[in-house]
Amino acid sequence: MTEAGNDLVAVPERVRTGSPNPITSLDAWREAWIAAKDDPDAFWLREAKARLHWRREPSEGLRGGFHEIADGPIAFFADGELNVSESCLDQHLAPRGDKVAILWEADEPGEGRSLTYRALHQEVCRAAGALRSLGVQKGERVIIYMGMVPEAAIAMLACARLGAVHSVVFGGFSAEALRDRVRDCGAEVVITQDEGLRGGRTIPLKATCDEALLGEQGVRHVLCFQRTGAHVGWTAGRDVWWHEAMSEATPVEDAVVCAAEDPLFILYTSGSTGRPKGLCHTQAGYLTWTSWTHQTVFDLREDDVYACVADVGWITGHSYIVYGPLCNGATTLMFESTPSYPDAGRYWELCARHGVTIFYTAPTAIRALAAQGDAFVQAHDRSRLRVLGTVGEPINPEAWQWYFDVVGEGRCTIVDTWWQTETGGICITPIAPATPTRPGWATLPNPGIVPALMDEHGRPIVGPGEGRLCLSQPWPGMARTVWGDHERYVATYFATFPGYYFTGDGCRRDGAGYHLVTGRVDDVLNVAGHRIGTAEFEAVIVTVEAIAEAGVVGFPHPVKGQGVYAYVVLQPGAEPGPDLQALVNNVCRAQIGAHAKVDLLQIVPGLPKTRSGKVMRRILRKVAEGQPEALGDVSTLADPSVVEAIVAGAKSL
Ligand code: WT7
Repeated sequence: MTEAGNDLVAVPERVRTGSPNPITSLDAWREAWIAAKDDPDAFWLREAKARLHWRREPSEGLRGGFHEIADGPIAFFADGELNVSESCLDQHLAPRGDKVAILWEADEPGEGRSLTYRALHQEVCRAAGALRSLGVQKGERVIIYMGMVPEAAIAMLACARLGAVHSVVFGGFSAEALRDRVRDCGAEVVITQDEGLRGGRTIPLKATCDEALLGEQGVRHVLCFQRTGAHVGWTAGRDVWWHEAMSEATPVEDAVVCAAEDPLFILYTSGSTGRPKGLCHTQAGYLTWTSWTHQTVFDLREDDVYACVADVGWITGHSYIVYGPLCNGATTLMFESTPSYPDAGRYWELCARHGVTIFYTAPTAIRALAAQGDAFVQAHDRSRLRVLGTVGEPINPEAWQWYFDVVGEGRCTIVDTWWQTETGGICITPIAPATPTRPGWATLPNPGIVPALMDEHGRPIVGPGEGRLCLSQPWPGMARTVWGDHERYVATYFATFPGYYFTGDGCRRDGAGYHLVTGRVDDVLNVAGHRIGTAEFEAVIVTVEAIAEAGVVGFPHPVKGQGVYAYVVLQPGAEPGPDLQALVNNVCRAQIGAHAKVDLLQIVPGLPKTRSGKVMRRILRKVAEGQPEALGDVSTLADPSVVEAIVAGAKSL
């Protein structure tokens, strides 16, 4: 029983019956969890050997730990050798070569194509050949800046086949953001497409790429996939068409052998300070973790049609569209469009047409669709759905219930999966056939995950309580370092609570050991599942000429989860003009990307600062949350009158 006593939701009958899952009961979960905690070496070595195709089997499990993390990254299966693309492709050719690997649903309903494991293998080998002919070698970095086309996954796997390190940059990022990432990882090749297509609109990916690369000497080649056929700018000698390179390529049948801890990819994400950091994931541990979690949490069965509607530009797309599902030999859907194109029934229409059995999306989409009414859902056959997943931010119980009742008609179980770019894969979650669910709660830690909640003195809370969420033991899927800056990795994640990985989230635990992740406790915003640091916003906003200072915080937003509230101080004598917010948003779009938008902007005479000059963000947050009565102690402020002006001029949606 949980603390509320009566809000547990039993696993529906059809989710429990016929499951091939090793974990179909709470007892089995507990047994596995304890085994992985007490002897992670044995537990993960067994899984790694069973799931991955090895060139040289590993003999050791975990090397290193959190107390020695400053000396160097931890390692899993360090003496093993493999190529990740062989685990995702070659190992399936004999048992399921004709099974659909990637089911591509293009922007227009019903358009798209499917690739069998055999076809995907051929395309990846060719693409690897094309990259090799452009000079890409093991260990070199390749940026992938594309939309949701199968070629994005093919490009990732082609890099993996060569042992090259890919870094996918979400197609919504601006030229500035793309340039930063190209520079930070030292990419020599960029793969893009002429245009992206989303909701009937085109996205000028090649043009943005050209802008980003203006004057960048380091990039030798741009490989451009043709999606729409639009006319694009062309730099002779540098730019190469994907289809031409593919037709001339010599397929790389013989994959490049990598060490288990060689880097597989870099993915940039926002933190509370400074520029985005490139989290570095490695080969075998990452693949073992994504394969194990994908199969177990979603209760994957051989005939499942699995659809994760995230973007490959985020970690969800890496782990649960590409690597986990393909390692498991699943049929994985790639979706190019939006939940509302041509109408709010698109998800359910595609579920009906493809016979989707497992569906994975984000709370922000669920809330947006729930607001459109049930008819859009009911118009389509959802009888094949069995497991419904959610990820990216806390899900409010109302949205959870709508997903359960209306989308799933009470026949499907909901897996609310908590994890992060840094964790590589799902950490706290129900296991579909085993775990009774609870609206709003991510429930139990996966085997390998040992959560600790820290109190305000930095001590672990025993039993029920609320605190900062840490993880106490290394697990195979964790990011090993920040690209080129191990010190920053250590300072960001291991300095706050020595000996623990600090997630940046707050978390509540009940008497049954169920977890509810309440959201970030650091200065990171989660806007519609997109992670952006307040410091990133502030740095960009002050580049607007009229603005001297900016303080950015989040506030509860009915659809996006968090909205962005900017307090700005004008330059002396500056005339803001009527459209300062539009101006600010143009700059945010240009410097960060289309997903970075200020929802509320307030001009203030000053930011609330302590006498030592530190901005008291707590005050900004409380006002943005509409709770000016709960400001608490403001006696340490240098100028308390600022607060009155802030409260008097507060904005709301
Ligand atoms: C942050 C990580 C994991 C892939 C997508 C986001 C929040 C994520 C949940 C959940 C409550 C969640 C956390 C986390 N978050 N899933 N089920 N319940 N919060 O990856 O961009 O690295 O963001 O998203 O705050 O720290 P990300």
